[in-house]
Amino acid sequence: MRVLLTGAAGFIGSHVGRALRDAGHEVVGIDLMLAAAHGPGAVTPGDVRRVDVRDPDALDRELRGIDAVCHQAAVVGAGVSAQDAPAYASHNDLGTAVLLAAMDRAACRHLVLASSMVVYGEGRYVDSAGAPVVPGARRLTDLDQGRFDHLAPDGEPLRWAAIDEDAPLRPRSLYAASKLAQEHYASAWATVTGSTVTALRYHNVYGPDMPRDTPYSGVAAIFRSALEAGDSPRVFEDGRQARDFIHVRDIAAANLAALEHPVDTFVPLNVASGHPITIAEVAAVLADAHGGKPPVVTGDYRPGDVRHIVAGPERARATLGFTAAIAPAEGLREFATAPLRATVAAGAPTWR
Ligand SMILES: NC(=O)c1ccc[n+]([C@@H]2O[C@H](COP(=O)([O-])OP(=O)(O)OC[C@H]3O[C@@H](n4cnc5c(N)ncnc54)[C@H](O)[C@@H]3O)[C@@H](O)[C@H]2O)c1
Repeated sequence: MRVLLTGAAGFIGSHVGRALRDAGHEVVGIDLMLAAAHGPGAVTPGDVRRVDVRDPDALDRELRGIDAVCHQAAVVGAGVSAQDAPAYASHNDLGTAVLLAAMDRAACRHLVLASSMVVYGEGRYVDSAGAPVVPGARRLTDLDQGRFDHLAPDGEPLRWAAIDEDAPLRPRSLYAASKLAQEHYASAWATVTGSTVTALRYHNVYGPDMPRDTPYSGVAAIFRSALEAGDSPRVFEDGRQARDFIHVRDIAAANLAALEHPVDTFVPLNVASGHPITIAEVAAVLADAHGGKPPVVTGDYRPGDVRHIVAGPERARATLGFTAAIAPAEGLREFATAPLRATVAAGAPTWR
């Protein structure tokens, strides 16, 4: 198969490119080499062409003879500032819209879209009897006093339950809003053009070549960077927040499976390890394997943070035959000493 891979120079895109080539596919890699991701003046890797996914003429050239598109290009992060909204809308949403129109012109009918768990916004919770509860926002007065769990009406803490792909989609950040808009454009495009889209909702991704600690980084990179600087990883809340951490090589394997098994119209799938872990455990494994200072549980909090979000990986298994091969306990130990991205990002993303 000849695959157009966008975001090919990125953390995940470079692993996906390697996995596709190893599986015998031909990869056409494109990337804009955004300064916000790669630093100013970064050199474009030899197997990647510098192309903006918002450029329709360039896409018409790149899509010649392409069987499927694997769309990883995006501005990532938690949406640090409202000033980032135009960059998310421009690269993520306009970029996806321009790509979908170009795919239609090229009669390219299969898209694998990098989506994210952030489209859910909140995790799934049950009360002590196992009944589902949709919690409201946590109260600042509770957080200030170290009561971090969502509470049931009877005052008992709610427990997490695994979230499936039918859960309500309630993005809580500008980045999340842009990732959900990508899914909506792709889903509508699949319907009107008779194409297929697999939207892979990655959970917390980590692994070699992850970007260093920036305001846009995930928690694994932040802990890793603290250890490298000789500091303790600083864990927010009580450290019992549950997440699913998935190794980037498993993310690449899921993309390969999705490209090789087109679905019917639009199918969103969680991509997760299936082994939930707490943030305190992540910090402890990394600190131990790095040989660094032990983590400090600070009790600090960020009001917008989700308490728990844990994936149900069953649908990806049933649809694609995908099961993650690397358990977090093992993968995080490798990550503790793995190389991080060589260049350092240059601050906030721009949209022009
Ligand atoms: N890293 C995670 O934990 C995570 C989790 C969920 C989803 N995702 C998604 O996975 C994908 C890859 O993320 P990543 O972590 O590798 O980020 P990254 O920043 O390392 O890679 C993204 C790449 O996209 C490129 N890019 C941005 N705008 C572009 C444009 N207009 N045209 C062409 N290229 C452009 C950047 O230069 C960069 O190389 C993204 O779609 C992201 O939303 C990542």
